[in-house]
Amino acid sequence: MSPGVSGPQRALATVDLGAIERNAARLPKPLCAVVKADAYGHGLAVADAALAGGAEWLAVAAADEALALRHRGVEVPILVMGALTRSELVVAVDADADVVAWTDELAEQAPRVHVKLDTGMGRLGTKDRELALRLAQRDNVVGLMTHFATADDPSDDLFGAQLEAFREFVGAVGRDDLIAHAANSAAALREPGSHFDLVRCGVALYGMDPFGTDPAAHGLEPALSLSSWVAAVRRFEAGDSAGYGRRWTAQEPTWVATVPIGYGDGWRRALTNNCDVLIGGRRHPLAGTVSMDNVTVALGPETDVRVGDEVVLIGAQGEERILAEEVARRLDTINYEVTCGLTQRVPRRHVP
Ligand SMILES: Cc1ncc(COP(=O)(O)O)c(C=O)c1O
Repeated sequence: MSPGVSGPQRALATVDLGAIERNAARLPKPLCAVVKADAYGHGLAVADAALAGGAEWLAVAAADEALALRHRGVEVPILVMGALTRSELVVAVDADADVVAWTDELAEQAPRVHVKLDTGMGRLGTKDRELALRLAQRDNVVGLMTHFATADDPSDDLFGAQLEAFREFVGAVGRDDLIAHAANSAAALREPGSHFDLVRCGVALYGMDPFGTDPAAHGLEPALSLSSWVAAVRRFEAGDSAGYGRRWTAQEPTWVATVPIGYGDGWRRALTNNCDVLIGGRRHPLAGTVSMDNVTVALGPETDVRVGDEVVLIGAQGEERILAEEVARRLDTINYEVTCGLTQRVPRRHVP
């Protein structure tokens, strides 16, 4: 039975916690599992699986996310990596989280801070090495960090320059009691020299490829699959159109399926006439405009697709597979945005 027929969901994201655990186990250690933005759209339950796979730290972007982890009963160290307003800082500290600092004011306001040197990302952190060196001598500093801008692009040489600048900084601080960390997933997978005392991996934990191609090349298993169901199968005559704006017209007598998922679920309108789905283990193209709540799928002149059949938008069905990386390429974006973009209307079902 399809999820749409057997259960209450029009669309469903199934998250394989075993895959998360195995991905965590495959990543370098010590590992900080990055679970911001509701675990890249996978749901916070993945935090427990990451810890089961050997992660010893968790990282988030926002104070509320740290609090949500504590409410789940998480006891390991949590790093809040994002910029915080004063009131958010209070929330982070109350949640017993570490925070990131790059000014005196920030460094004074939390019991445990990680000094961030901006070695080239140009976003958060200080570019002022002398200030960072001075901050790093404070008693409440427990870590030193930086973040890479181009670790996912082996052809760009900023990565090597950032790594060198951070290595030099850590040496100049000269404190063995601090945890130095820099690597995101791409750096962790491509450059052992970037690992220092902790790696901060997000995208790889979810079984997505930080280089945007094939997670299997790094021994990673995609954890999230997205499915819906065939709500209608109708015959179109040549010239009949599907969806807003008549952006697809049948060229010959054709069967068309209606599937109740759309941009209101995060299945983006830019996928109009530009995406395949799996039904009965075979690829079928979207036909016509993605609307808020529905898409239409061309099934061809003959079909055995029936109302109630399962539709896979991300994931495997039979021998076929659609990766988040494929959807990202069609949208001219990155896999991160595909899973983060699934809206709250799509229930997340976590399976062991
Ligand atoms: C500061 C910082 N570290 C680590 C990560 C994890 O990156 P990735 O998901 O590429 O592993 C992020 C995510 O963007 C980040 O902002």
